[in-house]
Amino acid sequence: MSLQKLQFFYQFIKYPRVIGSITPSSIFLAKAMVAPVHWDDAEVIVELGAGTGVFTKCIKQKMKKGSRAYIFEKNLHLSNQLLQQYPAFSHHTRAEHLSSSLYEAGEKYADVIISGLPFTVFPKSLTIQITNEVLKSLKPGGLFITFQFSLNMKKQLQSHFSKVDIKFVPLNIFPAFVFICYK
Ligand SMILES: C[S@@+](CC[C@H](N)C(=O)[O-])C[C@H]1O[C@@H](n2cnc3c(N)ncnc32)[C@H](O)[C@@H]1O
Repeated sequence: MSLQKLQFFYQFIKYPRVIGSITPSSIFLAKAMVAPVHWDDAEVIVELGAGTGVFTKCIKQKMKKGSRAYIFEKNLHLSNQLLQQYPAFSHHTRAEHLSSSLYEAGEKYADVIISGLPFTVFPKSLTIQITNEVLKSLKPGGLFITFQFSLNMKKQLQSHFSKVDIKFVPLNIFPAFVFICYK
């Protein structure tokens, strides 16, 4: 097991209801999360719940020159590591503060919001709060991409977005559903 995976597991033992997963996502899930994005058009990219940076790495590889990435990670140990690994990105802690963080950085909207947040272990009020922040921050026609280990959020997402596509990724612990939501 890599040091990153061990550190992630240790944080999960300490904060299970914040981390929400025993191990970081697989590269197969990371690729499925970034595949729907039209990277040539994406200027402002947001990642919520970045963890050890599995999706962050793909974002860095894909994003065009001159675009801006805003990374949100609540766990301070993981957030500090992300800051060291991705110093050119803008780092924040709480997804609940998404719209104000973008506003303070001078951004009007995000083109894409990629989320690793474990909504199913969150209190319902927090899920609603973060969903509202996503809707407020995303440009019209923008993309919200999230993964879950079940289809529990399908109806809720369909009620908020004009279209929701779902892709299944079996090669992950645990097999995951990717929700691609169009505002
Ligand atoms: C299931 S892990 C996913 C990590 C990574 N994206 C991946 O796929 O491997 C969820 C991450 O969301 C972070 N998180 C939980 N609540 C958060 C919040 N309110 N704001 C920002 N990050 C949060 C956790 O600390 C954890 O690192």
